[in-house]
Amino acid sequence: MVRRLAIVVALSLLVNCLAINIASAADSQLAVTSPLKQEPWWKHAVFYEIYPRSFADAKNAGVGNLQGIISKLDYLKDLGVDAIWITPCYPSPQVDFGYDISDYENIAPEYGTLADFDQLVKEANARNIKIVMDLVMNHTSDKHKWFIESRSSKSNPKRDWYIWRDGKDNGPPNNWNSIFGHSAWTLDPTTKQYYYHFFYPEQPDLNWRNPAVKKAMFDVVRFWLDRGVAGFRLDAITTLFEDPNLKDNKVLAGKNAYGDPNMANENNDHSPQIHEVLRELRQVINSYPGDRVLVGETYGKDLADLCLMYGKNGDEIHLPMNFQFAYINKLSAPDFRARIDEWDNNPAKGWPVYLFNNHDCVRSYNRYGDGVQNDQIAKLMATMLLTLRGTPLLYYGEELGMENRDPRSIDEVYDPIGKLGWPKEKGRDGERTPMQWNADTNAGFSQAKPWLPVTASYKSHNVAVEEKDPNSILNYYKKLIQLRRVNPDLREGDYKSLNAGDKSVLAYLRGKDNSYVLVALNMSKSAQKIRLQLPEEVSRHAKLLISNATGSQTVDLSSDLNLDPLGAYVWEIVR
Ligand code: NOJ
Repeated sequence: MVRRLAIVVALSLLVNCLAINIASAADSQLAVTSPLKQEPWWKHAVFYEIYPRSFADAKNAGVGNLQGIISKLDYLKDLGVDAIWITPCYPSPQVDFGYDISDYENIAPEYGTLADFDQLVKEANARNIKIVMDLVMNHTSDKHKWFIESRSSKSNPKRDWYIWRDGKDNGPPNNWNSIFGHSAWTLDPTTKQYYYHFFYPEQPDLNWRNPAVKKAMFDVVRFWLDRGVAGFRLDAITTLFEDPNLKDNKVLAGKNAYGDPNMANENNDHSPQIHEVLRELRQVINSYPGDRVLVGETYGKDLADLCLMYGKNGDEIHLPMNFQFAYINKLSAPDFRARIDEWDNNPAKGWPVYLFNNHDCVRSYNRYGDGVQNDQIAKLMATMLLTLRGTPLLYYGEELGMENRDPRSIDEVYDPIGKLGWPKEKGRDGERTPMQWNADTNAGFSQAKPWLPVTASYKSHNVAVEEKDPNSILNYYKKLIQLRRVNPDLREGDYKSLNAGDKSVLAYLRGKDNSYVLVALNMSKSAQKIRLQLPEEVSRHAKLLISNATGSQTVDLSSDLNLDPLGAYVWEIVR
């Protein structure tokens, strides 16, 4: 215990010293950063995803709300966040927790009102934080008035707003399966036709071949842009169009968690028509001042696929998410190096965007953690995320080292895919648990019983405790974000990977014109000795800026470097 205390004191002195280095660097470099060339704000912004149901409950209702988010803006400002992406907070039956929207131009009553939303935009903007909305264009809720009308009769003017077809051979029109299990077609008893849904049956797909659908959705886009949002995260954007001839999908080997045969989805995903819609959407966005942004939920099979999302002339999505990077799922220097190298040199010359977490995947704390040194690993991953050339995207609680809390039995499951696919698919509740604000009841999220249980680690991994601990994951994120904000090499510098063949250490330079920052990440659990293969012109003297390990403040790069197990180091090259 005493030893632990001594270590904590020693580390806190070290970290405080680093903090001071960063702070003074901030003062001296601010003058340098401000006159840099005017680039769109989103290139150097830190985005932070908020799942509103789980972030902060200002009404003690057990679910989060907009006033809850407003009450935490100072926290976000202090963390260094520039933009918040809020997952859908529109009225919704909440079958898919907001991704089934029943009114695109309002706020769900459990989350607040439009007045609360306006207040959020205003108060966030006052802190230089922008608000990005989630735009679900692929489907609506089955309780949306458009669908209620559409399903009412075959001759209803909104019939063609959705995809209706007769069945075939006493079954659905073709073999397409929903990504959430079983047939993508549901028979509607009123008109005895099937409607199509890529997701849940409660999420009927809109028919994007109908120009009226596009017009209505672009009106929605203008509605929120007029209210001051800085852009949109485009949900399920690759699935807008389907083959009009309903060609069967190729059946692949094996079955998924729901017992359905695996499929390639080649006829109902990634259709080329989406690009025309994206180009038009981009024009709508561009017609507003202030560099509004499009962030894409862009699953693709490879880099080429992903690059298409920027548009041939860079006229589609600004920030397509790279899930090939996000889901590497192991601490592998070669795998990260390969993905980063290809993304940084992408043929579309698109600006990279990096993330590890979102509300659909197991938290990175669990995916990369080894169960023993998870905090150290979380800092290692943060160092990579926040020192790459590109826009980083955080997910709430990531900055605390929040872990997954998966349901323990099917009775605990809320997410319908977890019910359908149990136990192979446990659903996504585990990564959506309440934000951990303090060590009090319900982690300070709400006085009422939260809609999902808090994680077991909330007493140690929460904002209040971590703010006081100079060695915490939270303080590490804060310092990295601050460093990235003030350091021109990290903001604008080129990326150059080093020691291409190294199996344990991911090392790279950021910078140009004889000004560099050097990053070395030891992804192995053993200490590493490494001689960095630096370009001639790079000086061999380096000063430590931040690290998750103990290490000397200056290093001589012409000799071997000793890296701690799982050590992450950011050095400034001293000219
Ligand atoms: C992707 C969203 O991230 C996910 O949560 C949702 O279930 C589907 N799209 C359907 O909207």
